[in-house]
Amino acid sequence: MLAVVGDLPRQVREGYAAGLAAPGLPSVEGVRSIALLGMGGSAFPADLVQAQLEDRLGIPLVVSRGYRLPEFVHTDSLVLALSYSGNTEETVTQYRDAVARGSRVVALCSGGELAARADEDGVARVAVPATFPVPRSAGGYLTAAALGVLEATGLGPAVGADVDESARVLAAAAARWGPEATPNPARDLAKRIGARTPLIWGSEGPTEAVALRWRTEVHENAKRPAFAAAFPELDHNEIEGWGEGSGTGYFLVILRAAADHPSVARRVAATLSAVEAAGLEHEEVWGTGKSPLAQALSLVLLGDYVSAYLAEASGVDPLPTERIDAMKAILRKGA
Ligand code: PA5
Repeated sequence: MLAVVGDLPRQVREGYAAGLAAPGLPSVEGVRSIALLGMGGSAFPADLVQAQLEDRLGIPLVVSRGYRLPEFVHTDSLVLALSYSGNTEETVTQYRDAVARGSRVVALCSGGELAARADEDGVARVAVPATFPVPRSAGGYLTAAALGVLEATGLGPAVGADVDESARVLAAAAARWGPEATPNPARDLAKRIGARTPLIWGSEGPTEAVALRWRTEVHENAKRPAFAAAFPELDHNEIEGWGEGSGTGYFLVILRAAADHPSVARRVAATLSAVEAAGLEHEEVWGTGKSPLAQALSLVLLGDYVSAYLAEASGVDPLPTERIDAMKAILRKGA
């Protein structure tokens, strides 16, 4: 898992190139909305793309998890169906509805039912390499591929320079946080968290999706509970739960990025002061690089490493996801 995590710079470059060069993309003439479909490790790329593009697109872009394709998705919608395996029931269900409604659809997957259906339906497909050991490890590839597809259609902005910068920033970060690095701030953060339950706070926009990624990586790699929330929403509810002494057993990581809304800085300070009596130990970590993409992806990389080091510290193999696989097998049998 540590080797795959460190491979993120290459994934980002290759995913972007594959998305940009995807053959047979649909015309986007008259398209008035974009829907990105996905679940779990393949929904995170959709969240990240949404956060990157929401203030750069002239039309709405939604992320749709689950079985239900939003009613407004129709012939004037571009739909990107993301599934590493191509066999995710919820995503395939929405994909089928999108095709039936005449939406302009693109599938991004390594194979499975989604690939077979796309080929049969004459739907454009980005062939994600089937070489990733687990779906969540293809997150960088899928993110960059979706950005490339959107750029190629003309609906998304040109992000080549941001992708280049991200790959450089990620390579430098992987050298600082990878298993061979000493000192190693990522391993140190995992040690500091120790046996405590991680809470991850991001902010609306750039780091909200990243906080969710940290949470799911702790679940899937370290096999532990974790919680994520985002400013400013958490100031309207969550902080009320952090009463005196309640922080014992938790460790708070606050994700910060230069692209955060200017009000976030004063909110972080005010919030920490409001929950001080909880005794919640915390560490603030910043994304690196200039572009919002590099900042977000560098925080993703840090979270991926920290979760893998949490697994390492407790002697857990981060790769297998026995409960997810067992649950999917039960569903398949019942189908
Ligand atoms: O991390 C995982 O293995 C899961 O969250 C999967 O990504 C999720 O079940 C969806 O599968 P896929 O990414 O193959 O569509």
